Formats: sequence, structure tokens, C-alpha cells
Amino acid sequence: MTDVPLHRHYRHYSELPYSLRALYTAVLVMLSLGYLFALIYLFHTYAGRDGDPTGMSYQDLVIAYTGSGEASRLESALRGPMSTMLPADELASLIAWVQNGAERPVYEMTIRPVLDERCMTCHDGSNPHLVNLNGYDNLMKVTAQDTGTDIFTLVRVSHIHLFGLSFIFFILGSIFSHAYVRPIWFKCTVVVMPFIALMADVSSWYFTKLYHPFAWVVMAAGATMGLSFAFMWTVSMYQMWVSPKPAKVAERERIDSHGVG
Ligand code: HEC
Repeated sequence: MTDVPLHRHYRHYSELPYSLRALYTAVLVMLSLGYLFALIYLFHTYAGRDGDPTGMSYQDLVIAYTGSGEASRLESALRGPMSTMLPADELASLIAWVQNGAERPVYEMTIRPVLDERCMTCHDGSNPHLVNLNGYDNLMKVTAQDTGTDIFTLVRVSHIHLFGLSFIFFILGSIFSHAYVRPIWFKCTVVVMPFIALMADVSSWYFTKLYHPFAWVVMAAGATMGLSFAFMWTVSMYQMWVSPKPAKVAERERIDSHGVG
């Protein structure tokens, strides 16, 4: 297996000009930073939807995609990303109010002052991208039962994901293609795997709405992309700057400069 001759178009990092290696390294560093922030965002958005703020679970994903079946958008937001916007006792009274039917008299007396103080800086309706929580009628739109991320939002996020991640894994795969990895089928698998995972990931968002266990596929696909990313990143950096030139590559250089005889 290791005897497969080098493809004549194959170039190991050690055969590339320093400028290209510097560029590759800079891109790899930026991509890893991007990945880090993506993970932070992911946890911030999803962890805690099931009431347990530590880590991201199967239940977090099911709730995100299909809705909790009980909790309203307001409650999910209060238990999730908005939980840091107000003290625990006010949070508890807001959730109790939603669960008890979100009645108007209680709203006027105790809920409105809390919202005015804690939420209106962002949700007074002046920002068209944020839900308007100003007034009882607007608030009612998010106190209805939670049915999860709506299809149109999924479509929007899908196209961003498909384009964005394809670019990232194309760049990463191109850099990794200069690594010396055997067997060849394994190298090809590593390069293609994140694209398969991406497809499984995005399509499973929709399938999870129909059949909850697809949330496992979403998680497995995310883990696969993360592993591929880490593997290609590490091998590329290591072979670019640390490990000695592979014997095959050194041998080809010898033959090129002295002739085959
Ligand atoms: C500092 C600005 C800010 C404050 C203050 C704030 N929010 Fe938000 N809120 C946001 C942003 C940004 C989003 C959209 C991002 C997201 O979905 O995570 C959002 C989204 C929401 C959503 C919609 C979630 C969904 O289903 O899409 C609800 C409901 C919500 N906030 C309720 C509240 C409540 C209630 C308060 C007060 C206790 C509050 N927010 C305070 C910035 C804020």
C-alpha cells in the first residue's frame, strides 16, 4: 500500500515556496479561530433549551428544531439565550406568567414593568431584526406554543451553511492535499467526509421536525465535521513545519536532480 508511486502533480509542503506555506499557515490559523467562535455561538444558542445549561444535548436539538411541544418562544428564549438578561426571581415570575396563560391583568401589573426595564433596550420594536415585545398584543405573538425553528429560517440558514462550509472545507482540503498520507483511499475519504457530513447535517434539520431521532444524525454529522477539521488542520501544520520530508518525496528529488541512470 505504501508503495504507491507519487502522482506527478503531487507536491509536498516541503516542495512549495515559503510564501505559499506562510499563506496556508495564516489561513489555517484564521479558520481555527472561526471554528472556535462558531462553537461558542452554537453552545450559546442551543445549550440550555432543555433546562440544563451545561452542554448541548439531544433534547436541546429536538427542542430547537421541533419546538418543545409545551414551551412558547418566549419561554424557550428565557430559558436559553435571554436567560442572562434578568435576575433569577424575575425570570421565574415571567415563566410562571407564561405558563399560567399569559393573562392581561397580571401583565399590566407585574410583567410590563419587568419587560420595560430588562428587555425594551433591544425589543421595543425599533430594530426590525428582533422580535417586538412592546405591548401586550406584540408579546402575545411569542407566548403561543413553540413549534421550533420555522422552515423559512431553516432554508436561510441552510444556504449559508452549504455555501460557507463548502468554501471552508474546500480551502482546508486543498491545503491538506499537499500532506503525505497513505493509503490514498484514506486521504480521499478524509477530504470528502466533511461534505457528506454537511449534507447529512443540513438535511437532518428538516427530518428532525418529522422524526426526532434525526437529531442524533445532526450531532454525529457535526462531530464528523469537527474531527475532519481537526485532523486535516493538525496534519497540515505538522507536516508543513515540524516533520521531516517524507522518504518518497526525498527520493523523487534525488532522481530528478541526478537522472534515473
Ligand atoms: C441586549 C439586547 C437584548 C436584550 C436586553 C434582550 N434581548 Fe431578547 N433577543 C436579543 C437578540 C439579539 C435576539 C435574537 C438572537 C437569538 O435568537 O438568539 C433576541 C431574541 C429574543 C426572542 C426570540 C427568540 C426566538 O424564538 O427567535 C425572545 C422571545 C426574546 N429575545 C425575549 C427577550 C426578553 C423577554 C428579554 C428581557 C427579559 C430580552 N429578550 C432581552 C437581544 C436582546
